[in-house]
Amino acid sequence: MTSLQSPASPPVRASRTKRGWSMNPRIPDWHGKRVWVIGASTGIGAETARLLLEKGAHVAVSARREAALQTVVHGYPQALALPLDVTVPEQVRQARDRLLSEWQGVDLVLLVAGAYNEMRADGIDLAVVDHLLDLNLRAVFHCLDAVLPTLLAQGEGGIGIVSSVAGYSGLPKALAYGPTKAALINLSESLYFDLHPRGIAVYLINPGFVATPATAQNDFVMPGLISAPHAAREIVSGMETGRFHIHFPKRFTNWLRLARMLPYRLYFPLIHKVTGL
Ligand SMILES: NC(=O)c1ccc[n+]([C@@H]2O[C@H](COP(=O)([O-])OP(=O)(O)OC[C@H]3O[C@@H](n4cnc5c(N)ncnc54)[C@H](OP(=O)(O)O)[C@@H]3O)[C@@H](O)[C@H]2O)c1
Repeated sequence: MTSLQSPASPPVRASRTKRGWSMNPRIPDWHGKRVWVIGASTGIGAETARLLLEKGAHVAVSARREAALQTVVHGYPQALALPLDVTVPEQVRQARDRLLSEWQGVDLVLLVAGAYNEMRADGIDLAVVDHLLDLNLRAVFHCLDAVLPTLLAQGEGGIGIVSSVAGYSGLPKALAYGPTKAALINLSESLYFDLHPRGIAVYLINPGFVATPATAQNDFVMPGLISAPHAAREIVSGMETGRFHIHFPKRFTNWLRLARMLPYRLYFPLIHKVTGL
């Protein structure tokens, strides 16, 4: 176990560069970077893996569906497909061992796996609640437990956690999903205190609506909807410029960030008016 307390630790502080403030080191070039994307068989994770492969990174992709993972890495000899169920800690550790035996280290781990189910107070379904807590929250700890010792021993690298704008503040229909994503925002902030001084980047990634299999079920007009390749470009450019909080599309996410700062007596009527819920 590596201690987080070190008298030589640099302070938790953003650094100023010629192009503004940077909370994480910039990534000017992906060539040779070893990236593990967990939750990469479809949607945001698959498109982010594809983009990083195009940019020359060595990418390992994980999810349950091996055939879909093989499609993502097809044509890239530097890529690895590591199927796993992220809710099973042993499978995450086994995949980590395989990755380290191939690469001897890892530069970035992106935790993307997750699911959305709508839920309201008159329809609490404990099986769905357990599933979302297991996949969206507990599984993130499985991954942290598996990779943080390696990152801390390396003293460099990064970890990105995909949360959601639904974690900013309570929203209708997000009774189970919202709390899991709020927890990930809090978790990413806590991680920054521990990992930034140890040379490890932390990225909190909050997408708005992205067209993926997860949102295909939505029966309402999704404001600010973007494509999964667009989301991947936002994530990758956010990491390249060293951001901590990577959120997009800004026209939607900034509106929600402002709304959450309102007093509750204004916040609730505003969200009710906008959503009709
Ligand atoms: N789409 C949006 O509008 C939106 C907005 C905000 C945040 N997000 C977040 O973005 C992330 C990706 O969502 P998406 O929209 O791209 O959805 P998606 O296309 O359904 O992708 C979900 C990914 O998670 C993987 N996964 C699910 N259960 C798993 C398990 N038990 N073990 C390993 N992998 C598992 C899936 O692969 P397998 O099924 O093959 O296992 C798939 O690769 C999620 O965390 C979601 O909450 C999405």
